[in-house]
Amino acid sequence: MPFRDRYTGLVNRYRDHLPVNDDTRIIGLGEGNTPLIRLKNIPRTLGKDVDIYVKYEGLNPTGSFKDRGMTMAVTHAVDEGSNAVICASTGNTSASAAAYAARAGITAFVLIPEGKIAMGKLAQAMMYGAVIMQIRGNFDQGMELVKQVAETAPVTIVNSVNPYRLQGQKTAAFEIIEELGRAPDYHCLPVGNAGNITAHWIGYSECAATSGKEVTRACNFCSGQCRFAGAVTGSRPVMVGYQASGSAPFLRGGPVEDPDTVATAIRIGNPQSWQQAWTVQEESGGWFDELEDSEILQAQKLLSEKEGIFCEPASAASIGGAMRDIRNGRIPEGSTVVCTLTGNGLKDPDTAIDQCRDARMVTIDAELTSVKKAILDEM
Ligand code: F0G
Repeated sequence: MPFRDRYTGLVNRYRDHLPVNDDTRIIGLGEGNTPLIRLKNIPRTLGKDVDIYVKYEGLNPTGSFKDRGMTMAVTHAVDEGSNAVICASTGNTSASAAAYAARAGITAFVLIPEGKIAMGKLAQAMMYGAVIMQIRGNFDQGMELVKQVAETAPVTIVNSVNPYRLQGQKTAAFEIIEELGRAPDYHCLPVGNAGNITAHWIGYSECAATSGKEVTRACNFCSGQCRFAGAVTGSRPVMVGYQASGSAPFLRGGPVEDPDTVATAIRIGNPQSWQQAWTVQEESGGWFDELEDSEILQAQKLLSEKEGIFCEPASAASIGGAMRDIRNGRIPEGSTVVCTLTGNGLKDPDTAIDQCRDARMVTIDAELTSVKKAILDEM
């Protein structure tokens, strides 16, 4: 492949659809272009005729979908002359902000709930050199503090309340449409702050708009020269959002005071994109549902064991929820379903090891007979 065609990240790939111009210095790490993997074994166990794909966002540079938004948010922050970014985070945003700030040569301030973020994410923020503020409080409190401090301090917020984040994240929908040749029938995501479900809807809507049907929101950036023209049917998916039961404001109809779940990434009681997410459900004919922690962990394990795909607990809410809705017929047979796996399983080794107490693991002497015996015992 000639050097100039090398994949260099989603901003260059979708430049026509993003708020950048020819002079913009892009802060990128080769994010996006993640695999859309068709599940082979799980659909068989469901006994239903459905096509399930997972969009493995855990293969982004810092291991989560946040990188899609962060490349745009930090690019824009730098373009505006900002020397520092700030975010509240359940872990992944802090890792991503820290990495892109490092790449840009600016400072990242991150507020994280003490003791409630997965070890891998903390390690990332530390390694990338962020200034880490562990707060004795939760994500929602951190978010309020970040919004207040940014009113006066010279820092740019890079949480998903920053519209550039959603612009970057909408490209996941573009990639899915390009690969399937159309939008899926159902798109299932874990929901925390609700930025990602909103961003996907923007992406799908821009494609639908440019294909000439169902025009709801025109693309603001492509001046009519859209790469999707004619490539898609114009339809958009039904958007389904899954939350953890202990942290499910969309199911309770309002903020949850003290959210709690093993899926720490979505331990959020007061989603910032509250209204946008309801609009997505209304426009797409979708719904929200909730999963117990045990169901989330079961789905995470099943995906690892049956398909060889290791995602973090929050991500597994999408596949766990989709499986339930396929079984009960809410997602009908014949459907094409995409589940977003938002983060990499390696982010949270503690939770993984905790639920593998029955792993097939023996400790043996370093000698041939012991190895042979161990193999025979397991066959
Ligand atoms: N999955 C993972 C792995 C996440 O890290 C998040 C959010 C979500 C799902 C939910 O996405 O907020 O757009 O609805 N994590 C944020 C963070 C809040 O700070 O890393 P959302």
